[in-house]
Amino acid sequence: MSYRDGIAPHGMQLINRVATPEQKQEFLDKADSLPRVQLDERAVSDLEMIAIGGFSPLSGFMEHEDYERVVVEMRLANGLPWSIPITLSVDEAIAEPLKEGSLIRLDNTSGRFIGVLQLTQKYHYDKAKEAVNVYRTDDIKHPGVKVVYDQGTVNLAGPVWLLERHPHSLFPNYQIDPAASRQMFKEKGWKTVVGFQTRNPIHRAHEYIQKCALETVDGLFLHPLVGATKEDDIPADVRMRCYEILLEHYYPQDRVILAINPAAMRYAGPREAIFHALVRKNYGCTHFIVGRDHAGVGDYYGTYDAQYIFDEFEPAELGITPMMFEHAFYCKRTLQMATTKTSPSKPEERVHLSGTKVREMLRRGELPPPEFSRPEVAAELAKAMRIPVEAK
Ligand code: ADX
Repeated sequence: MSYRDGIAPHGMQLINRVATPEQKQEFLDKADSLPRVQLDERAVSDLEMIAIGGFSPLSGFMEHEDYERVVVEMRLANGLPWSIPITLSVDEAIAEPLKEGSLIRLDNTSGRFIGVLQLTQKYHYDKAKEAVNVYRTDDIKHPGVKVVYDQGTVNLAGPVWLLERHPHSLFPNYQIDPAASRQMFKEKGWKTVVGFQTRNPIHRAHEYIQKCALETVDGLFLHPLVGATKEDDIPADVRMRCYEILLEHYYPQDRVILAINPAAMRYAGPREAIFHALVRKNYGCTHFIVGRDHAGVGDYYGTYDAQYIFDEFEPAELGITPMMFEHAFYCKRTLQMATTKTSPSKPEERVHLSGTKVREMLRRGELPPPEFSRPEVAAELAKAMRIPVEAK
C-alpha cells in the first residue's frame, strides 16, 4: 500500500473530525436542545487530537470492543496496534439518561460548547484491569492511575465532531496540526523526520540524543506536549520559552520545526511510548526518539522498558521507526555528552541530574551546571521560578 504524501498515517487515512461550516451551523441550531456532557481537561485535548487526526484512525471515543482489546492486547478491534484507551468516562448519573443513538453536546471545562458526540454505546469498565494492564500498577499514587480511579464509571463512546478549530490561546504560532506538519515536511523536502516528545525543558541529554538522530535524518520535529501534565512538571509557557531560546542559539534553524502537541500526559511509560510514536507518525514523522524511561514517573518502569515494548510489534505494523538511546550524560573524562556505549568513564565522572534535583538547585538559588543545561535555558528557568541567582 502507498500513501500520496510522505509516511502513511496510522490506518492509512488522516482523520478530520472538525465540523464543516454547514455541520457547525446545524449543531449550533440544535445546541440548546441536546443533552450536555462537560469534559475535563484531558477529554478536551483528546477530542481535539481526534478531530485534527493526531489520533488517526480514531474518529471518536472508543467503543467497548476497541477498548477491551486495547487494554488487554494493545490493539484496536481491527487488529491495528494501539496502546492507550481513549475514553470519555462519566458518572453513572450523567450516563443514565443519555440514549444510545442520540447526539450529545460536549462542553469544555468552562461550559463552552466545543463539540458533539454521536453516542453509539455506553458501557461499564473495570478500572483495576485498565490500571494494571495500561500502567502496570494499580497504585493510586501513580498520576495516570489516579485519573482512572477518579474518573466516572461509564464510558460514552462514538464518533465526535469538534465544532471549530481555534488557534491555541498561548502558542498560536506553534499550533501545527498533522495535515500542516505533513505539508511543511514536504515543502522542506524532508524524506525522513524524527519526532521528539517532551514534557520537560530541553537539557543537554535531550539535545544530545536529538542531534545524534539529526545526524542521520533530514529534520527534527520538536513536539513538546502542552496538554495536562502533573502539578510539579514545569509549566508549558516556561518550557516553550526555553525551547525558543535553545533553538535560537544551538540548533540549525532550517532543520528543526517546533510545534505543540495538545495531548495530555498519561505517564504510562512503555505503553505511552508506543502511543507517542503512533501520534508522531500521524504528524508525518518517519522516526521517533525513545530514550531512558520514556513517559515514566517515579520508579514504576524499568529504565528501558519503553524501548523493549517495541519488540512486541512487527516494525511494519507500527510504521514508524523508533530511535533508541541509552541514558545520556556529560562525561568529564572525554569532555562531551555520551552514554556508556560511547564513553569509558566511571560513574563518578558522569554528570546527570534529575528534574527534581534541578528544581532543588534552582530553589537554592543555584543554576544547574553548563554540563547539564545550556546557560541561557538555566537562566530562563531561574527567571520563571523568580530565583535571584546572582545572589549566590
Ligand atoms: S517524557 O515523559 O516526555 O518522556 P522527557 O521530556 O524527560 O519526558 O523526555 C523526553 C525524551 O527524552 C524521552 O524519549 C526520554 O526517554 C528521553 N530522555 C530524557 N532524559 C534522557 C537522558 N538523560 N538520556 C537519554 N534519554 C533521555
